[in-house]
Amino acid sequence: MPKDVEELIRQMSLEEKAKLVVGRGMPGFFGNPPSRVPGAAGETHAIERLGIPSVVLADGPAGLRINPRREGDERTYHATAFPVAVMLASTWNPEIVEEVGRAMGEEVREYGVDILLAPAMNIHRNPLCGRNFEYYSEDPLLSGEMAAAFIRGVQSQGVGACVKHFVANNQETNRFFIDTVVSERALREIYLRGFEIAIKKAKPWAVMSAYNKLNGEYCSESEWLLTEVLREEWGFEGFVMTDWYAGEDPVKQLKAGNDMIMPGKAYQINPQRKDEVEEIVRAVKEGRLSEEVLDRSVKRILRVLVNSPSFRGYKYSNQPDLDAHAKVAYEAGAEGVVLLKNEGALPLREDAKVALFGTGQIETIRGGTGSGYTYPRYTISILEGMRERGLRVDEELAELHEEYIRGMREKEEYKVKMVFNQPVMPRLPQDFLSEEEVARVAERNDVAVVVITRVSGEGADRRLEEGDFYLAKDERSLLEKVSRAFHERGKKVVVLLNIGAPIEVASWRDMVDAILLIWQAGQETGRIAADALVGKINPSGKLPVTFPKDYGDVPSWSFPGEPKDSPVKVVYEEDIYVGYRYYDTFGVEPAYEFGYGLSYTTFEYKNLEVRLEGDVVKVSFEVANTGKLPGKEVAQVYIRAPRGRLDKPFQELKGFRKTRLLKPGEVERIEVEIPVRMLASFDGKEWLVERGEYEVRVGSSSRDIRLTGKFTIDEEIRYPP
Ligand code: BGC
Repeated sequence: MPKDVEELIRQMSLEEKAKLVVGRGMPGFFGNPPSRVPGAAGETHAIERLGIPSVVLADGPAGLRINPRREGDERTYHATAFPVAVMLASTWNPEIVEEVGRAMGEEVREYGVDILLAPAMNIHRNPLCGRNFEYYSEDPLLSGEMAAAFIRGVQSQGVGACVKHFVANNQETNRFFIDTVVSERALREIYLRGFEIAIKKAKPWAVMSAYNKLNGEYCSESEWLLTEVLREEWGFEGFVMTDWYAGEDPVKQLKAGNDMIMPGKAYQINPQRKDEVEEIVRAVKEGRLSEEVLDRSVKRILRVLVNSPSFRGYKYSNQPDLDAHAKVAYEAGAEGVVLLKNEGALPLREDAKVALFGTGQIETIRGGTGSGYTYPRYTISILEGMRERGLRVDEELAELHEEYIRGMREKEEYKVKMVFNQPVMPRLPQDFLSEEEVARVAERNDVAVVVITRVSGEGADRRLEEGDFYLAKDERSLLEKVSRAFHERGKKVVVLLNIGAPIEVASWRDMVDAILLIWQAGQETGRIAADALVGKINPSGKLPVTFPKDYGDVPSWSFPGEPKDSPVKVVYEEDIYVGYRYYDTFGVEPAYEFGYGLSYTTFEYKNLEVRLEGDVVKVSFEVANTGKLPGKEVAQVYIRAPRGRLDKPFQELKGFRKTRLLKPGEVERIEVEIPVRMLASFDGKEWLVERGEYEVRVGSSSRDIRLTGKFTIDEEIRYPP
């Protein structure tokens, strides 16, 4: 194929080359013709003369985002809504994430799309980032491994994945121009590391550069980022595209190594911009851009696209196996449920009479909004899931909720509005039942389950307010009423958190007996919730992100930047101390730590062996199910470095493994290999592994370390970047 690509390039005119590196404008908007796959986010120019077809690009991480209906067409084009990425990361199970990737990849291919604009893998720097639900974790190793698995799955289907947003796009506030100021060490160890792992391990077809500036320069215009680091150091061989309408100067973008400008026609939304194709042609003619640089991008793009379904003339069916993929969505969600608290309340007896509170039982959140939104065939609400699974739900109470929602949504203030084909639903007050009504409900039921929901999305960060990071007053008073009424009668109260990112829990968790974090689990949310409540699913998810006790404890205090009213710059003062790296090093106690999650059974760790063999640390140990129910455990390996020249976090995650389903009494031997290179820190010039004694800390969470061992590095080791 490469030979053909060279030949194609020889035959292309300057204008054709310029067209190939610029999208043809956001399809279906601003007078642009719709994509041949309506709802897709972008499409490239076809060059018919040379037999180059256009290729179609569509979002996103939780499912393929295309329009479910087409004008004058009876058929539907729904795609599966999978659990959001933070929930996929909570599985700590690359195999299931790869399966999600495979299923999504099949939908991409069968709906006629070439490249999926996923995975998204920015680090959860701050709990308020509006897109955290689309991203995996606060830890780069976990993010990188999850993204690699997802990419492998997608690309096994003959379509491409595009990792995004490269890099340090950790907030939505002023995302188009915010300048992220961050040290090279923090960049390399935290923000770049996950991308590095995903790119080296899984070779995505494409990378999407981020909107923001990085130390003063737009990511899409940074030669250091897109050429030195990405290609020269990491060996990336695909092509780079901009995020939609990112940056200012397409000529600079091409020079920096940003090969494709998307979606094209930025002038349609920004009067400062010009037609990119014309700009590029003019720059070449005026000698401001060498044709070699343009050819370089054309070549990178074509080398990838010749393998795309569109190039190969693939006849797609428009009939992916949605039933099979629904099962994958369920399985993935089942492994990502995190049990945060359980004082004898769960699992529920299957015949327990359940009083469900909270409008989220009906208006269940399957995922976030923006480009990560999905259009599945259905979403099973929590109430529907519980009914379907035969739980004895208090129907009178459910009906009260249905009526309440119906009435409220008719009021102007609470009307559901459609914005860009997505519903915007103002949060409803939750405390609409009187003390007496709740008491009557408590009398006739065995247990209360209170649903708390949150939704966020692209374009805005979450708020440090009641009703968002904090419980609203009405949510708090509902919890108070319910727990008083049920506890007085010796009955338990369970909270279901249907959220996409941490909220404050420390001030109210003592009021309830159990908290089950079901995240935003996609179209199967209700089934997953019901099965986890009764123990058909034994929770085996672990937190990929710290739940802080309060916002004041969060290390990224500079979020979202300065000046406060409309930030232009955000300085990452906390440097490498992101997430648990901060909480552990500075002795700050979180509400629930990184890696935390309970089970309905118990596990014991034993027989640790640690060996340094050449340039690999081999860690092996056993995990035994010592409880009464089958379950899976996520075993985590942290390393604590010796004191040396460079500051190091207290400990860092260097490996993990999820066990198979262990029956009571069953034991699994786990082996984890850690390349010595992964112990290095960046000293400003090079990667450095300092000499001394390293502690291996094996545990069930970052703060529940069950076994420790040691190994020694005799001589310091340096690696070039
Ligand atoms: C988002 C990307 C997305 C693109 C296309 C941008 O606004 O940041 O994540 O892939 O739009 O929809």
